[in-house]
Amino acid sequence: MLRQIKSFFKIFTQKPYIPDKQKANELVTTILNRRSCRSFTDGDINDEDFSLILEAGRFAPSAANMQTWSFITFTRNEWREVFDRPIPFNGARAIVICADTHRNKQLLPEFSHTPLISTTFSIFNAGLAAMNMNITAECLGIKSIMLSDTGLTGLLDFSFLKEHLELPGGVIPVTTLVLGISRDSSSISPPRLKKNAVVMSKCYQPCSREELGEWFDRMKIGFKFLYPFSDLSSKLTYYQEKMSEAEKEIKEVFFKEERNG
Ligand SMILES: Cc1cc2nc3c(=O)[nH]c(=O)nc-3n(C[C@H](O)[C@H](O)[C@H](O)COP(=O)(O)O)c2cc1C
Repeated sequence: MLRQIKSFFKIFTQKPYIPDKQKANELVTTILNRRSCRSFTDGDINDEDFSLILEAGRFAPSAANMQTWSFITFTRNEWREVFDRPIPFNGARAIVICADTHRNKQLLPEFSHTPLISTTFSIFNAGLAAMNMNITAECLGIKSIMLSDTGLTGLLDFSFLKEHLELPGGVIPVTTLVLGISRDSSSISPPRLKKNAVVMSKCYQPCSREELGEWFDRMKIGFKFLYPFSDLSSKLTYYQEKMSEAEKEIKEVFFKEERNG
């Protein structure tokens, strides 16, 4: 019980460490204080800001400047037209960010011989673009969340998205970036692993099971706080099932297309 109270307390007190001399640095504080938003108002984002966010994606770094990404954009109405439902969490706009080797393959067939590496790089590049857009949105006062599962609009719904977005071979929908005006100004940070679990000097240093267990306890408590009628274990079981399905679909559809060129 004492351990649970301690964990609960830690969830609400944990904050990123920002040295005093950097506290006025807006970009640093924006990056460290960014949190995912899961409730948006009915307000919209203006087109100019939305274009700027997309420009940040376009100018993200990518391995060998291959820009292996595509951004499929939606307003509220467009999302409803395509998916027959509102944007998740009542977002104002959404961008389905795809890892895209389709374009390059037309020009550079040599990339077809290494589908695993090409695909891995394209997913990594798409992630960088997603984060550039996410941070730019934060700088403009626009909140966002990246989603892999939104009940039929993320990577975990590969076949569904492939069909609805008419994705050609070589295009994987990595994440849906939902953007909008936040309904709630307070946002707690899901528990981070301790610094020594992820930052290692000179060589790999495994994290103890006890430390991992302590972090996972905090994850469970935080989840219960956000979703009192659910629990993390059932959510993980749900994810696991969706991931198995998605893995099967991706292997069957995506890699078959890759093999057939
Ligand atoms: C690729 C990716 C996929 C995600 N998918 C989901 C999702 O399907 N549902 C959800 O509620 N949050 C999703 N998230 C948000 C994470 O849960 C969140 O980033 C993490 O808990 C850390 O919290 P923070 O972003 O508020 O710092 C996703 C984040 C990323 C980067």
